Amino acid sequence: MENIIEMMAARRSCRKYTSEPLTAEEIKDLKRAALMSPTSKNCHSWEYVFVEDKEVIEKLSKSKEHGASFVSGATLAIVIFGNTSKTDVWVEDAAIASAMLMIEAHSMGLGTCYVQLKGRGYSDGRTAKDIVKELLNVPEGVEPLCILAVGRPDESHRPYTDDRLEWGHIHDERF
Ligand SMILES: Cc1cc2nc3c(=O)[nH]c(=O)nc-3n(C[C@H](O)[C@H](O)[C@H](O)COP(=O)(O)O)c2cc1C
Repeated sequence: MENIIEMMAARRSCRKYTSEPLTAEEIKDLKRAALMSPTSKNCHSWEYVFVEDKEVIEKLSKSKEHGASFVSGATLAIVIFGNTSKTDVWVEDAAIASAMLMIEAHSMGLGTCYVQLKGRGYSDGRTAKDIVKELLNVPEGVEPLCILAVGRPDESHRPYTDDRLEWGHIHDERF
């Protein structure tokens, strides 16, 4: 079993997945991880839609013009939302949840990729937000942040190594 820093190094975005289904226990573990993610004032502003239906996954892959088409090959799409009535920091709560889920999925041998929805859409003005809200019957005040595409990896990318890290972004004591 890798330790956490090794998992962080080996977790890379995966956009190609095999057709092998996930087990019910794997999906349950992802749900557990989602619900353990920390939130501001413990307000639990996140909401998740776990989508396994191929037709709906295909529609999610068309929720914006660029950068989502590969979602059509995912085994599971976890759409991550924030309840805007619970906190002003729903974006942070939902984004942290996405990171927790990416690491949990990686620890299970699954591949993931984050797909931005908030602020994205089509050049003709249609928004990913409206498309997803209609598709998934999302209630008022609940806003989509992203899709986490999940599946068994059918591609691999080199783990991060010290020599490839941009150490210049780290500032000791002050900028
Ligand atoms: C906020 C955010 C938005 C992203 N949006 C997309 C996206 O819409 N489509 C996509 O294919 N990848 C998306 N990614 C994945 C990044 O491209 C990827 O994490 C980055 O290139 C680093 O690669 P790595 O994940 O393998 O370390 C997004 C990642 C983040 C954190």
